[in-house]
Amino acid sequence: MRITVRSGQLGSVRGGVQVFAALEGDAKPERVLPGSAAKDRSLLTLISGSGMRGELNTTAFLPHRGQWVLVVGLGKAKDVSLDRVRQFAATAARTARARGQTAIVLPVLRERQLASTDRVAQALVEGCLLGLYRYDKLRKLSKPEQRQRIDAATLVVERSSDVAPAKRGAAKAQVLAEAVTLARDLISGPSNLVTPTYLANQARILARRFKLSCTVIPFARLKRLGFGGIVGVAQGSNHPAQFIVLDYRPARAKATFALCGKGITFDTGGISIKPSAKMEQMKYDMSGAAAVLGTVQAAATLKLPVRVVGIIAATENMPSGTAQKPGDVVKTLSGKTIEVINTDAEGRLVLSDCLHYAKRYKPDATIDLATLTGACIVALGKEAIALLANDERLAARISQAGKVTHERVWRLPLWEEYRPLLKSDIADIKNVTDTGEGGTITAAKFLEEFTEGLRWAHLDIAGTAWMERDKPYIPKGAAGIGVRLLIELMENWEK
Ligand code: BES
Ligand code: MN
Ligand code: ZN
Repeated sequence: MRITVRSGQLGSVRGGVQVFAALEGDAKPERVLPGSAAKDRSLLTLISGSGMRGELNTTAFLPHRGQWVLVVGLGKAKDVSLDRVRQFAATAARTARARGQTAIVLPVLRERQLASTDRVAQALVEGCLLGLYRYDKLRKLSKPEQRQRIDAATLVVERSSDVAPAKRGAAKAQVLAEAVTLARDLISGPSNLVTPTYLANQARILARRFKLSCTVIPFARLKRLGFGGIVGVAQGSNHPAQFIVLDYRPARAKATFALCGKGITFDTGGISIKPSAKMEQMKYDMSGAAAVLGTVQAAATLKLPVRVVGIIAATENMPSGTAQKPGDVVKTLSGKTIEVINTDAEGRLVLSDCLHYAKRYKPDATIDLATLTGACIVALGKEAIALLANDERLAARISQAGKVTHERVWRLPLWEEYRPLLKSDIADIKNVTDTGEGGTITAAKFLEEFTEGLRWAHLDIAGTAWMERDKPYIPKGAAGIGVRLLIELMENWEK
């Protein structure tokens, strides 16, 4: 999509369907933003006559002075936020597309102290691009669908001094949206196509494009090198596991981040097999890995002055004659042994090796992303990422980044009293508790065993990685969560 920034009055800028933001009032939309449009009496009359009340994400598509205008509700003035701007743009773009429009003109809203111009422009473009996302690589589009495409968006700022910051924000949003799109495409791709080898090739493609170093350790070598956590999970699959290290290392890096991603390309549960209902969704069990790849891509494109080492354990979790069995004991890269009580608690097994591997980079922060527990969905639903961390400052910074990006995190404790629940009779630790209590916390307690000496945060994205229903800028399906959060964190990192 082509994105341009113009200065002037919204009503006078050509280039596609004009989008106006309506604030929710008591009886009629009390104001239409930006303020200047409120002078257009006939437009206001048209809007109030349309029944549009300015409620969040409601729309009216109206003929006005010989062209179409699109009015999108922004909700009450007191509730306006950067995320609502993101939603506003997404709703506008999707509605315009459904109405057969090919270009839109959006106002860079300056409502009260909303945010700086670049942030608002960024939110608008993020909303547009992320909202318009569709995964249609594997089906033939219908004739109307083929025609439904938005090719251009124009952002309108009132003051010419706002053009430069708006352009900056828009450009950043394009980079982020491209990275989120990469993640979404990988997650949406079914497991017969998006195999561990496919993920490794994807990393190699990024390495070539951005001149990154990329190391892939395939299954046979993982076995020899003692990656027992990954090997135990991978040994039941016919697709060879791949341990992927993608290293973005700029010349004067201010800090080093190790990002570990759970890359289970399909989770059947293994011998502790899952029920069939909704099992097809378990292709999204590599969402952590997808977020890591997207984040490395965005960091490299934006030339962030930090080193980012992506560490991904990619494998299927399958039942077969060679699969690991409940009760098996595996020896991890760290040397610690694990009694595998439940083969469906496989994410923590593969991550144990990733986290141990991260130590060699002496990172300033290590963050793992994983669709780790169903319990996370029970506890926090589909809105919050569970955050568990052994470092207060890192946790606070991630929380802050979550507020800005609206990829919000909610912290859970790592109290020592949870640790005894993982005591094994015959190994150093077992991979599940007897009762299932505190499922998300005990999974993180398990991971913590492999983080000695690391400033570490664990993000359980089981609930947020996949949407069962459309949201304005997260169409039903793969969310691509984590990319924007991590970039926001790393961009604002100060020692
Ligand atoms: N990938 C699942 C967790 C999951 C479940 C993610 C549903 C998204 C939606 C993970 O590997 C798993 O199976 N966890 C088990 C752990 C249990 C055996 C202790 C779970 O949550 O049931
Ligand atoms: Mn599982
Ligand atoms: Zn899993």
